[in-house]
Amino acid sequence: MITKPTIDRIMEATDIVEVIGEFVQLKKRGANYVGLSPFANERTPSFTVSPAKGIFKDFSSGKGGSAVTFLMELEKFTYPEALKWLAKKYGIEVEETVENKEDREEDNRRESLMIVSGYAAKFFHESLLDTEEGQNIGLSYFKERGFTNETIRKFELGYSPDQWEAFSAQAVKEGYQEEFLVESGLSVKRDNGSLYDRYRGRVMFPIHSFTGRVIAFGGRTLKTDKNVPKYVNSPESEIYHKSNILYGLYFAKKAIREQDNCYLVEGYADVLSVHQAGIENVVASSGTSLTVEQVKLISRFTKNITILYDGDAAGIKASLRGLDLILEEGLNVKVVLFPDGHDPDSYVRKMGTAAFKKHIDEKKKDFILFKTDILLKEAGNDPIKKADIIRDVVESIAKIPDSIKASVFIKECSHIMQIDERALLSELNKMRLAKAKKGEQQQQPRPVPDEPQFFDEPQEKKIKESDTQEKEIVRLLLLYGNRMIDWDGIANTYIGPFMIAELSDVEFDQPACKQFVDIYREELEKGVLPEEQQFIHYPDKEIVDLVVTSIATKYMLSENWYEMHKILVTDETANMKATILGAIFHLKKHKVAKILENLRGELQKATSDADQDILLNQYMHMKKVEKHISDYLGSVILK
Ligand code: CTP
Ligand code: MN
Repeated sequence: MITKPTIDRIMEATDIVEVIGEFVQLKKRGANYVGLSPFANERTPSFTVSPAKGIFKDFSSGKGGSAVTFLMELEKFTYPEALKWLAKKYGIEVEETVENKEDREEDNRRESLMIVSGYAAKFFHESLLDTEEGQNIGLSYFKERGFTNETIRKFELGYSPDQWEAFSAQAVKEGYQEEFLVESGLSVKRDNGSLYDRYRGRVMFPIHSFTGRVIAFGGRTLKTDKNVPKYVNSPESEIYHKSNILYGLYFAKKAIREQDNCYLVEGYADVLSVHQAGIENVVASSGTSLTVEQVKLISRFTKNITILYDGDAAGIKASLRGLDLILEEGLNVKVVLFPDGHDPDSYVRKMGTAAFKKHIDEKKKDFILFKTDILLKEAGNDPIKKADIIRDVVESIAKIPDSIKASVFIKECSHIMQIDERALLSELNKMRLAKAKKGEQQQQPRPVPDEPQFFDEPQEKKIKESDTQEKEIVRLLLLYGNRMIDWDGIANTYIGPFMIAELSDVEFDQPACKQFVDIYREELEKGVLPEEQQFIHYPDKEIVDLVVTSIATKYMLSENWYEMHKILVTDETANMKATILGAIFHLKKHKVAKILENLRGELQKATSDADQDILLNQYMHMKKVEKHISDYLGSVILK
């Protein structure tokens, strides 16, 4: 864990305008800075940074927070990663508490493995560019395949000399430990204890982690001998877990976010060629089938995946089932095929960028429809096979968490398969129900209604209303919590503690609001009157979000809006009693109404007289409370 003093030092040093300015072009406007939202496509800048408050607010996407949350949001860093990024930028040494000796050792081992891998990448890269053997064999191969110097440099491509010990001997000589050379798979230990190179005479593709460090390699042979494996890859290690790595992601993440789409290809060569053609949002699963972890990794940046397949029918069919897991994660999957014999690499080199893009645009097909098509073609007129297909396709659709989207697919598939939509729907609901029963612990999607259904509006509205009321409490605590109460009867008390005491009997429904109030209360118990800044730098993103949304409206909106709302702001401070008590009692009234509603429901269900009696008593009591609150609101609060 990063220590509190370090975090404080980082926060002090951090200039939010400078940090965000590295990613977004900002212009000064009044006390704030504005720019185009990096989270949404917009023409007029709505993205606002307040240096005074140390916060940003993006009015397009609704996102907001501190410099730390900005990095977490944009770069998908974890909290410690974001802090470390800032520490590096501002030259602050990071102090971490060591949980225990084992953790520390593990960290050291991982770091050592990364250092060895980084060294190896440099060794292979230099031997490609600076040695005669590397130039004649490795470099000329890459050139022949059309890779430019820029691509070779960017992806740190390399060459491992065709000798038994070129790398291992050099690495040992330079002091790298045998243990890590072996564990990373770069060297292999002979029976007599000496080391030899694993990747002799291969061109090297380093595999980078999410943050850009080399963690593994793929080495391709240049021989055509069928008995020689085409690729030799790093073994699994403490730093390399194949199932959560996507080749090229480090170089693609910015473009994936900007394009809001990720191209998925099969091989290293495909990534390099497509990237080199200027289509940078491309990653590879490196020959294995896609894993859930990989899909989750992509979904941090975009919800849209486009799979680029080479046109080998057997391969496609085999992979269909695996793609369901992308649907399950709620992502949209499209599929593009390339003409027989072509893969994305060969196709983009042959046709050029524009024609390649055009091919994708014209041929991309939604996965479900793609699958339906393929299976239907295969089945021909066989009715039994056709029944199987229906089940198979509906099974895929059942994986889509969004029921509205699912029902659209049902419609389209019913059209393609010439089957009654209702038959498909009932099949779908059967599957969803079965699934829901199987895994009660996970929240399951609601079944798709057989008939078009409209949202239950009053219910939705009610939830929204109570949400706003809870948020209003948070807003008032933030803005006025450390003001003195200036109304009758109460002296020498701050608004914050007063509100918290008044709300002690209220259960908050929204997790973030509840957490906020809990933190506020805990701080008060420690004798601290919480400050806005404290919450802005809170590690929990939901809290920061809530806080920034609450204060951003007042401080950061455009001049016009501010003018418009100044009235409201002055109004609310003019009569603080009405503002504070109004918010508290409106929320209470709402909670009471909810309790009454529940009681009415229970009364209807109650069977015994005794039960009814108890419930009725409770009901009467709550009715009185409700009346109380209403009277109070009416008399004390001018609303
Ligand atoms: N692969 C592997 N081991 C093999 C063959 C393939 O690990 N023996 C993985 C590699 O990650 C490779 C991907 O599967 O990039 C796709 O295989 P392939 O299409 O054969 O490789 P390409 O990268 O396209 O290589 P090339 O174009 O040079 O044939
Ligand atoms: Mn290829």
